[in-house]
Amino acid sequence: MKPVYQRVLLKLSGEALGGKQGSGINTSVIQQIAKDVAETHRAGVQLGLVIGGGNIFRGVAASAEGMDRASSDYMGMLATVINALALQDALEKQNVPTRVQSAIAMAEIAEPYIRRKAIRHLEKGRLVIFAAGTGNPYFTTDTAAALRAMEIGAQMIMKATKVDGIYDRDPKKFPDAVKFDRISHMDVLNKGLQVMDSTAISLCMDNRLPILTFDLGKEGNILRAVCGETIGTLVHN
Ligand code: GTP
Repeated sequence: MKPVYQRVLLKLSGEALGGKQGSGINTSVIQQIAKDVAETHRAGVQLGLVIGGGNIFRGVAASAEGMDRASSDYMGMLATVINALALQDALEKQNVPTRVQSAIAMAEIAEPYIRRKAIRHLEKGRLVIFAAGTGNPYFTTDTAAALRAMEIGAQMIMKATKVDGIYDRDPKKFPDAVKFDRISHMDVLNKGLQVMDSTAISLCMDNRLPILTFDLGKEGNILRAVCGETIGTLVHN
């Protein structure tokens, strides 16, 4: 299999690291993810990675329960840093040179986010994990993924989820739900499909950035996706 993409941004949800229960960090799950990512890296694809923090702390949920939204979002951003360090460790055990860059300054544990430096790291064959979201409350890690993808000149965002694509209805509730192979950003917005939040989708639409959503649970799917196999759903202009 030969990659058809040279540089992509992979977005992982925090819950993915938590395994079945979706919370905390499940060692065997993170090892499997690292193996899949390493295989893609070895195939010569430059990878930027954005990870959520929902397995540790969900900012939106806490604010719904009365916590100040900005404070809870900052806590969520810190959670993404924990996940980024865990992933860096797992990836380096797979011999993938990895750099963590944080949108919130914490020089003792991660490099600061510097766009040009991130691009140099990628060119030198290092995988870059972008931690702490965009560094701003009210923005999700999906929006951070869209932003970083644009900044590093990624050809596509690969959004790894628990479902094998985008359906017209919730496939868990409706067995006759139909999966889209391809759909436009505008249709995702108009139909209110739960792919990414509307800020992230709009940003991708305005900058003509395709999003591939696919199932992370199947081994080898990341490599299949960068090799252009039709898996999941492609959101494009
Ligand atoms: P080159 O400039 O291409 O040699 O990149 P490099 O990342 O190998 O070199 P550098 O000397 O910048 O970094 C060496 C190590 O220190 C890497 O693991 C970096 O991630 C880490 N590092 C660099 N800057 C910082 C920082 O501000 N904070 C922390 N915590 N680590 C840093």
